[in-house]
Amino acid sequence: MEKIVSLCKRRGFVYQSSEIYGGLNSCWDFGPLGAELKRNIKDHWWRTMTHRRDDVEGLDAAILMHPQVWHTSGHVAGFTDPLVDCKECKARFRLDQIEEAMCGSPAYKGRKAAKCHAEGKFTEPRQFNLMFKTFMGPVEEDASIIYMRPETAQGIYVNFLNVQGPMRRKLPFGIAQIGKAFRNEISPGNFIFRSREFEQMEMQFFVSPKEDQKWFDYWKQVRLDWYLDLGINKEKLRFHQHGPGELAHYAKDAYDIEYEFPFGWREFEGIHNRTDFDLGRHKEASGVDLTYFDEETRERFVPYIIETSAGADRTTLVALVDGYKEEEVKGEKRVVISLDPRLAPIKAAIFPLVNRDGMDEIALNLTNDLRTKFKVFYDDKGAVGRRYRRMDEVGTPFCLTVDSQTLVDQTVTVRHRDSMEQERLPMTGLAAWLEQRLKA
Ligand code: GAP
Repeated sequence: MEKIVSLCKRRGFVYQSSEIYGGLNSCWDFGPLGAELKRNIKDHWWRTMTHRRDDVEGLDAAILMHPQVWHTSGHVAGFTDPLVDCKECKARFRLDQIEEAMCGSPAYKGRKAAKCHAEGKFTEPRQFNLMFKTFMGPVEEDASIIYMRPETAQGIYVNFLNVQGPMRRKLPFGIAQIGKAFRNEISPGNFIFRSREFEQMEMQFFVSPKEDQKWFDYWKQVRLDWYLDLGINKEKLRFHQHGPGELAHYAKDAYDIEYEFPFGWREFEGIHNRTDFDLGRHKEASGVDLTYFDEETRERFVPYIIETSAGADRTTLVALVDGYKEEEVKGEKRVVISLDPRLAPIKAAIFPLVNRDGMDEIALNLTNDLRTKFKVFYDDKGAVGRRYRRMDEVGTPFCLTVDSQTLVDQTVTVRHRDSMEQERLPMTGLAAWLEQRLKA
C-alpha cells in the first residue's frame, strides 16, 4: 500500500485534501491522472449500466434533500456506528474494529486500539450517527437542519414516479445514479478506501415481490462479471453474504463483492435486496401513492428493490492495487500498472525517437490528430527506455514511437505495456486501431 500511495502522490493520481494546510483527514483530491482514471471507471459503469441496456434509466439527483427523507429512510435513527473512547489517551474507535484488534487481525496489530484495549481503558459504546449535518438558509436552528446524503439511493427512491411515468416504464426496470456521498466515519483510513467524502455508483432495480430472488441472483452475477471483464484478478474477488447481525436495517439479503487488498479482504460493492422497505416507508411518510399496478396480473403492489451499490473511489483503488506490479527487466526494476486500456488515464504516449530529421514534427502532428479522440501524451525527453518506464508506471497501454523507419514508410513502432512486445503499424490506421482496443 505504501508504494501505491507514494506512486499516486508522485505521479498525480491522488493527494490529501488541503495538503498545504497539513491536510484534511480522510478527504482526498484526485490529480490529473487520478481524475481520468476515476472518470473512466464511472463512464464505463454508466455506459454498461444504462446505455447498453434497455431496462435502466439514468438520474442525477441533488445531494441536499428534504430532511424528512432521512427520517423516513431510517438514517436519522439508525445510521450509526458504536463508538468507544479511550478514557486515557482520548482516541476514538469503532467497536467492531476493537473486536478485530482483539482477534489479532494483522490490519490492526500493534495499532493504538489494541494497546488501549489491552489496558482496558474504554468507555461503554455510544451510538454515533454518521451523517454530516448542515443548515439551510441563514438561521442555524434545528428547523433548518439538513443532511449531506450518506448514500445516493434515496434520490432514486423519491424520484421513482418522476422517472417511471415520463419514461413509460413497466417493471422490472432500474434507475442508475453516480454521485457524491458523505459519511462522518469514526475511523476512516486505508487511503481512499474509507473516506468521509466519496462517490457512489448505485443502481436500484424495481421488481415484482414475486421476482425478487431471481433479480437478486441476476444482478449479483452481472456485477461480479463487470469486474472480471475489466481484468480484475479472479482469485482476489469473492462474495461475502451478510449474516443476520450484519444486515443493514433495510435489507432482506445482501452480498458484498470483496477484494483482497493489502490490508485484507474488504467490501467494495454491495448487492442488496431492500424489499419494499424504501418505497413503502416513503409512501407512508409522504402520503404519495408509490404503488405499481401490473396490468398483466391485475395486481397492485409496492415494488421491491434490488440495489447494486459500488464505490467509485474503492473501485479506483481496486484497479490500482490489482494492476500494480514490480518486475525485473534486464537487471532493472520496472513498475507497471496493468490497467485495462478502457480505464487507463492516458491511452497512448507518442514519442519521437530523436528530436531531429522531422521526427518531432511528425510525432506532434500524430499527437494532435489522436488528441481529438483520445487522452494522449507527447514526450520527447530522455532515452526512449526511460519514457517507456514513465508510461508503464501510470498504466499507459500503448507507446507509439516515430523513428527513422517512419520517414521511409509512415509506420510507427507500437510498444505494448504488459508484454513489452513491439510491432510496426501504419500511422494512418492508428486512430481506428486504438478505437478497437478501447471499445468498452
Ligand atoms: N445504498 C447502499 C449503500 O450505501 P454501503 O454498503 O453502505 O451501501 C456502498 O455502501 C458502497 O459505497 C461500498 O461498497 C463502498 O464501495 C462505498 N463506500 C461506502 N462508504 C464509503 C467510505 N467511507 N469511503 C469510500 N467508499 C465508501
